[in-house]
Amino acid sequence: MKHKDIVGGGVIPRGEGLLTAFSNTITVKDMLMKQMCRMTRTTLLGMTLLLSQSGLFAMSRKDRAFIEKFSLPKGTLKENADKLFSDKKILKALRYQQKERLEAGGFKLFSNTWGNVIALHPDLEGWVIKYGNRFPAVTSNIRRITYAERIRVYAKTHQIPEIVLPKKYLYHLPGQKDKLSNKNYLVFSEKLELNKKGDKPPSREAIHKICKMIKRLGLGDMHPDNFSIVGDNKLAIIDTEPFFDFGTRGLGGVIEKAFLRRLRGGIGVLHFKRTMRKFYPDKA
Ligand SMILES: Nc1ncnc2c1ncn2[C@@H]1O[C@H](COP(=O)(O)OP(=O)(O)O)[C@@H](O)[C@H]1O
Ligand SMILES: [Mg+2]
Repeated sequence: MKHKDIVGGGVIPRGEGLLTAFSNTITVKDMLMKQMCRMTRTTLLGMTLLLSQSGLFAMSRKDRAFIEKFSLPKGTLKENADKLFSDKKILKALRYQQKERLEAGGFKLFSNTWGNVIALHPDLEGWVIKYGNRFPAVTSNIRRITYAERIRVYAKTHQIPEIVLPKKYLYHLPGQKDKLSNKNYLVFSEKLELNKKGDKPPSREAIHKICKMIKRLGLGDMHPDNFSIVGDNKLAIIDTEPFFDFGTRGLGGVIEKAFLRRLRGGIGVLHFKRTMRKFYPDKA
């Protein structure tokens, strides 16, 4: 037989038996290769995530533009802040949240915070400082500014003049690296007079619009410590730190799944409505 061989009693075309045997080994090899590729991919993804969280990457153009746009302008306030935070002891106390040391340095700390240093200081009159350095949220504290901007833009485009947002600035701590991270920067927030007796709440229509905004932007942290009626018919949102916002690198690197935003928004609306109910005794 020229072109055929007898294998196992049957007649198969020459070469096909070999091919079958060969293809069997390829299948095992293939599976191994596939498995290895999968493992490599997972390892690489894990390493990228870890590196991105660790903030080892160089500063992006976006981060630089953000710093330029929102940095505390030169002036008395900045000079005073530079003097205050050049003191290594204060800086250390801030970093490690040593409350007694901060108080000894003249800071008055707010207690209703979630692991951040929120404080006033007589040399920084009219301003609240906000510092937080929780792992792994590399930029969650300084993204208070990003979220405040989001709210500002939404309130403007959807015509909700009742929303008030305190001015916020980014402040680079003296002697720290330039890299945009919670460790190197803190946030200055204009001090507002909150929960003053006699201030009237916004209209029901405005509240309705605000609820929509909370849902859309996923503002999950709308509990009574984080917003306040200020003046007449205005509502200030003072805590704009992203809530449940994991995977935060830089400013844009937010892994923001739509369903998570919706979930946060739903929680936020519940908190908000529960607090606002007392202002509308007849019906919420
Ligand atoms: N701009 C502000 N004006 C006046 N008080 C403020 C201001 N920002 C924060 N506070 C006070 O500090 C508290 C904690 O601030 P917040 O931003 O909510 O911190 P956290 O993100 O840790 O919850 C607020 O409940 C409020 O009493
Ligand atoms: Mg708060």
